[in-house]
Amino acid sequence: MLPALSVLLWPFSLSLQSTVFSTSHNYPVQEKPLIGLPQDVTAPVLRTLSVFSEYSAAATCINNFNATAGAKVTCDPGKCPIIEFSDTEIIGSFQGINPGNTTGFIAIDRTHQRIILSFRGSEYSGNFKTDGNYTQIAVPEICPDCLMHGGFLSAWNSASSFIMPTLDCAVKVFPHFTVAFTGHSLGGALSTVGATYLRKANRTIDLFTFGSPQIGNYSVAEVITNTTMGLNYRSFGNFQTCQKKWQYSQSSPEYWITSNNTVKPTPADVEVIEGIDNKTGNLGQTGCDITAHNWYIGNMTGCSRDGASKGSGKGWCDL
Ligand SMILES: *[C@@H]1O[C@H](CO)[C@@H](O)[C@H](O)[C@H]1NC(C)=O
Ligand SMILES: *[C@@H]1O[C@H](CO)[C@@H](O)[C@H](O)[C@H]1NC(C)=O
Ligand SMILES: *[C@@H]1O[C@H](CO)[C@@H](O)[C@H](O)[C@H]1NC(C)=O
Ligand SMILES: *[C@@H]1O[C@H](CO)[C@@H](O)[C@H](O)[C@H]1NC(C)=O
Ligand SMILES: *[C@@H]1O[C@H](CO)[C@@H](O)[C@H](O)[C@H]1NC(C)=O
Ligand SMILES: *[C@@H]1O[C@H](CO)[C@@H](O)[C@H](O)[C@H]1NC(C)=O
Ligand SMILES: *[C@@H]1O[C@H](CO)[C@@H](O)[C@H](O)[C@H]1NC(C)=O
Ligand SMILES: *[C@@H]1O[C@H](CO)[C@@H](O)[C@H](O)[C@H]1NC(C)=O
Ligand SMILES: *[C@@H]1O[C@H](CO)[C@@H](O)[C@H](O)[C@H]1NC(C)=O
Repeated sequence: MLPALSVLLWPFSLSLQSTVFSTSHNYPVQEKPLIGLPQDVTAPVLRTLSVFSEYSAAATCINNFNATAGAKVTCDPGKCPIIEFSDTEIIGSFQGINPGNTTGFIAIDRTHQRIILSFRGSEYSGNFKTDGNYTQIAVPEICPDCLMHGGFLSAWNSASSFIMPTLDCAVKVFPHFTVAFTGHSLGGALSTVGATYLRKANRTIDLFTFGSPQIGNYSVAEVITNTTMGLNYRSFGNFQTCQKKWQYSQSSPEYWITSNNTVKPTPADVEVIEGIDNKTGNLGQTGCDITAHNWYIGNMTGCSRDGASKGSGKGWCDL
């Protein structure tokens, strides 16, 4: 049976506004990556990617996507050390939003001064149905020639009506915090669709995705690549998505992770690949290594208690 959708919304005036920002942390606040896209990934950039890798992994944890009011973001021991060390608070949890069985959470990170929306990747049949719903839909509201993946689009359209009130409220309470969307795999795709729509409405959204499939045609990839309304960090390792076959295009830049699976990459292991559909990075790889897909900066499964297995790769490779 599908659990009911739960979105937490509680008095911000009581729990959030009174909170004092603390600077007593080891992790720098708001590591701003270089403007104009660095050719080399620096330690601060990799640390920022690590923070978001942890937020993406944390969306697999039921304690985050079915959180109690005021809870911190947590994972299985050792799975999200940076964010567990940070001053975080979950302000919205959601699960089972259809179509797509969309699941995730919204959190405040006072240490990094961010509002973060994190979507879980594919674990269940409802998620895989969305992945497989790849017929492209015209989205003239994004650009005249834009076509988007129908499944990701309908999942975002449905989930956004639950997400946006919480997000808007958080933005009002923390106007100086940046807003970032993040997610692994399907979660990255939903983040990208959402950011594309909000950027179009003049809202600045930073995007940090891990192994996200392409979400639309070349024109959509151009819109994402050309944006001036937020940073684009799309990490990819040695994992191919089959969508390449169907007129899908990949936005730029790509943060191509060249280190071995299960190894934490160093800055030298992450190459910046610029150019839409540049085959120097992931796009030039063959095969479908699900182990690589479940490990980018770190383990993308933050919790084993709710569906630790990401399956055999079916749903991507066998489409
Ligand atoms: C979510 O948490 C509540 C308690 O806060 C619990 O009653 C409910 O069963 C949980 N739902 C799921 C799907 O675990
Ligand atoms: C939806 O996700 C929940 C866990 O979040 C799972 O228990 C349920 O089986 C899923 N349903 C479908 C149809 O994917
Ligand atoms: C989608 O992108 C392609 C470029 O790959 C372009 O030729 C096409 O016109 C775009 N839009 C539509 C509606 O086909
Ligand atoms: C598939 O995508 C279409 C177009 O966005 C949508 O109307 C439909 O509801 C989607 N179906 C599922 C199961 O996601
Ligand atoms: C976004 O800002 C631009 C430039 O200020 C303006 O032309 C446009 O109408 C705005 N769009 C929306 C949706 O507010
Ligand atoms: C993106 O920018 C390129 C280069 O400036 C331009 O040629 C292209 O038309 C832009 N595409 C869109 C969809 O904005
Ligand atoms: C990756 O793993 C293989 C096999 O264990 C090993 O031979 C190789 O040196 C490793 N490469 C790097 C860059 O660590
Ligand atoms: C593709 O990426 C490589 C490596 O970063 C770069 O040398 C090359 O210029 C890029 N090609 C395009 C068309 O941007
Ligand atoms: C990643 O975490 C999951 C869940 O705890 C675990 O089953 C898996 O072995 C881990 N993968 C690696 C490579 O450590």
